[in-house]
Amino acid sequence: MKEHLFSAHEIRLPNEFSIDNACLTYRNVNLLELVKKHGTPLKFTVLPSITHKIKIMKDYFKLAFDVNNYKGKYRYYYCTKSSHFNHVLKTVLLSDVGIEISSACDTELISSLTKTGQIPPDTQIICNGYKTEDYLTGIFKLMCDKRCTVLPIVDSKGELEHYIEQSKRLTNISIGIRLNMSYISSYARESRFGLFPEDILYHYKTSIHGKDNLKLTTLHFFNDKGIENTDSYWTTLAEVVHFYCYLKKINPCLTTLDIGGGMPFKDNLNHNPNISELIFRIVSTIKDICTLEEVDEPDIITEFGKYTVAESTGTLFKILERKKGNERDWAIIDGSFITHLPDTWAIKQNYPVLPVNNLESDLIPYTLGGITCDSADFFPNNGDAESIMLPDTNEEQFVAFFHTGAYQEALSGFGGINHCLIPAPKHIIIDENEVKEITISTFSEKQSSQNMLAILGYQ
Ligand SMILES: Cc1ncc(COP(=O)(O)O)c(C=O)c1O
Repeated sequence: MKEHLFSAHEIRLPNEFSIDNACLTYRNVNLLELVKKHGTPLKFTVLPSITHKIKIMKDYFKLAFDVNNYKGKYRYYYCTKSSHFNHVLKTVLLSDVGIEISSACDTELISSLTKTGQIPPDTQIICNGYKTEDYLTGIFKLMCDKRCTVLPIVDSKGELEHYIEQSKRLTNISIGIRLNMSYISSYARESRFGLFPEDILYHYKTSIHGKDNLKLTTLHFFNDKGIENTDSYWTTLAEVVHFYCYLKKINPCLTTLDIGGGMPFKDNLNHNPNISELIFRIVSTIKDICTLEEVDEPDIITEFGKYTVAESTGTLFKILERKKGNERDWAIIDGSFITHLPDTWAIKQNYPVLPVNNLESDLIPYTLGGITCDSADFFPNNGDAESIMLPDTNEEQFVAFFHTGAYQEALSGFGGINHCLIPAPKHIIIDENEVKEITISTFSEKQSSQNMLAILGYQ
């Protein structure tokens, strides 16, 4: 952390920020120059951030494996649902990772990457989620295509029966099964995903055991509250590993534990999740239980979505007007939280927010308002969150939301029809060339009114 303080309020800026001539610079990009050139609202995605996040996660696992004398392997998978953009997939695929997909269209996304040669041969594809007929057909095509290694994760009994049928026609199908977590008392939630342990054991014994070309290699679980340093998470993980050991003793083909996604990103500049500590404890928990149970420790798979992409993207707005309020003052942005950053509204997601310019002025608190007519379109809207500090000035003012790269387009759509017909912002991509110079290119222009009217049948 840099000891850099905004004038009136103590906001410590991490190293990727600096202040130059009272303007905010992020990863060596002057944000005021960016908005002056491209306008607002503006999304920018910094691709090297994605590569960096994958590298440090692999380093954390390597260190934890070395210290714990862990014999298994680690494999990083990127889960497409957190951001499907081609520039994101192209970037993650340069880092020797697998891909986790969740729908029929996702299988076509993989086929398109294979056709354009953007996916290395033999890339491992995990097919997770609920399997519709179309999705099963897409998985079957990927398996027959043989350019990638495909591992479906069984979510229901019907799906398992499908692979049992297919194994009569295909050679060597490997599958995983998702564990339904509701039986674990520390999990304390109902889940509709996966199969209970007794069903997994029953189906293994009656339908998988003894089949030469159908192997159950992977046990998958996903803690929907994410990976967190809580007693509940550690107890839940331990229960899952005990079940892994039980299953491994009757099914020697089981080699892999897929611990899903849920690794946190930095949603607050003053709070850094201690990721190396989380990884260390995951690895040591699995190692200790496997040693106790006298079972080889599994290869570990992760499917990190928001961890991979959230911190790569920022969203910039202009303050259109400041309004005096009764209990709070408002600053109206030229965009909408409900449509541009829907998680702020739907799950009260926090993001780091900083003013972009006029940083020589004192800061005063505001609530930011969106331009839709919806009374819920404001930020922060989580009771505990602090107000947004903006410079006390009459000059033109811009504000930046950071770490907004995961799930926002997946929720609000990209370039469709949104509340009050607020257009999708311009989106630019920031990358580095071979000599590490910054390059900036336009991914998409701000959505036009004509585009929206055409979608609505007016043209
Ligand atoms: C099965 C599965 N894997 C991975 C993820 C990615 O989670 P995250 O983006 O929190 O890493 C999800 C998210 O819903 C999921 O359902």
